[in-house]
Amino acid sequence: MLIRRTPSWALPESAATPEHVAMNRRRFMAAGAGLAAGAFAAPGAAEAGLLDIFKSKQPPAPEGPDPSAGLYPAKRNPAFKLDRDVTPEKINLAYNNYYEFGTNKWDPAENAGALRLRPWTVKIGGLVETPREVGIDDLLKALPLEERLYRHRCVEAWSMALPWTGIPMKDFVAWAKPLGSAKYVVMKTFLDTAVAPYQASPLYEWPYTEGLTIQEATNELAFLATGAYGKPLAKQMGAPIRLAVPWKYGFKSVKSIVSFEFSEKRPKTLWQAAGPSEYGFWANVNPEVSHPRWSQAQERVLGTNDRRPTQLYNGYAEQVASLYKGLEGEKLFM
Ligand code: MTE
Repeated sequence: MLIRRTPSWALPESAATPEHVAMNRRRFMAAGAGLAAGAFAAPGAAEAGLLDIFKSKQPPAPEGPDPSAGLYPAKRNPAFKLDRDVTPEKINLAYNNYYEFGTNKWDPAENAGALRLRPWTVKIGGLVETPREVGIDDLLKALPLEERLYRHRCVEAWSMALPWTGIPMKDFVAWAKPLGSAKYVVMKTFLDTAVAPYQASPLYEWPYTEGLTIQEATNELAFLATGAYGKPLAKQMGAPIRLAVPWKYGFKSVKSIVSFEFSEKRPKTLWQAAGPSEYGFWANVNPEVSHPRWSQAQERVLGTNDRRPTQLYNGYAEQVASLYKGLEGEKLFM
C-alpha cells in the first residue's frame, strides 16, 4: 500500500509565523467579520479586507526610470562562487517574504509596486563621528558596487542562489565612521501604512528591525544589496537597499532599509519580539539545530526538484565560524 508522507522540509506557506501570532490571527479572523472599513486587522488570509482597502485606492503614479540603472551590471567579484545554479530571476521575483506587503509568497510581487523609491534617504546615526542623512544615489556614488553570487537560505527550509549587486558592508561601515564604543548596527525598514498596509497589524512590532554585531557587519561576506540579476533591485526583493548575510537565515536580511543606527545595545528584532522561543538574534544556519516546529537538516532548492542537505553556516563556515568563538553559551542557531 502506498503511504504518502509529508517530508519534514515541506512547510506550508507562512509556516514560520510564530505559533502565538498564528493563534492571534485566528482570533482576529473570528472578530474580522465585524471590522469597519478602514479598520486594520492582522495579516493572513482572513484579513484580505486589509489588502482590499489598499487595492481600492488609486494606484500610485508610475515612477520614472531608475536613476541608478547605469551602474548595473557591476563587475563580478570572482571570490564569491556557487556550488549550484543561480535560481531563475522569475522565481525570485514571484516568491518573496516581505510581510509589509502581505504574508503569501505572491503578495509582495503584487503589492510592493506602491513603494516609492525616490527620493530615498538613508539615516546614519547613533554612535558615529557625524550623524548624517544621505540620498540613495549619493550613497551609490560614494561606494563602489560589485556583483557576488550568494546562497540564500530561509528559515522555512527553502533556498535560492542569486547574483546580488551591492556594497560590501565593511566599506559602508568604514564610511559611516562608527565610534569605538559601537557594538551593533541596527537596521530598519521604512514605516508607512499608506504604502504597506500590513504595517498596521498589531501582531508585529513595526518597522521591521534587524541587527548585526560590528564584527559581523565588517565580515567580508556581509553585503548591502542594491541590485540583483545585473539591475537595480526589484521592489519585492527589498529595493533600493537591503542586507544580504548568507550564513544566516533569510529573516536577518532586512529589506528597504532607511536607517543604520550604531549602538552599544543589542536590538530587539521584529521576529524576536513576535516569537522569542522560535527566533533569536543570531539566526546562523545549522542543519543540526531544528526549529522548534520542523527540521533544518534539508532545504528545498527553489526552481528545481532538488532537496539538499543544509550546511553549517549555509556553507560559509570558513569565512564566519571564527566570529562565534567564545559565544557557545548563546543561542547561535535560532
Ligand atoms: N525584510 C522586511 N522588511 N520584511 C520582511 O518581511 N522578510 C525576511 C527578509 N527581510 C522580510 C525582510 C525573510 S523571512 C526572508 S526569507 C527574506 O527577506 C526574503 O527575501 P526574498 O524575498 O528576497 O527572498
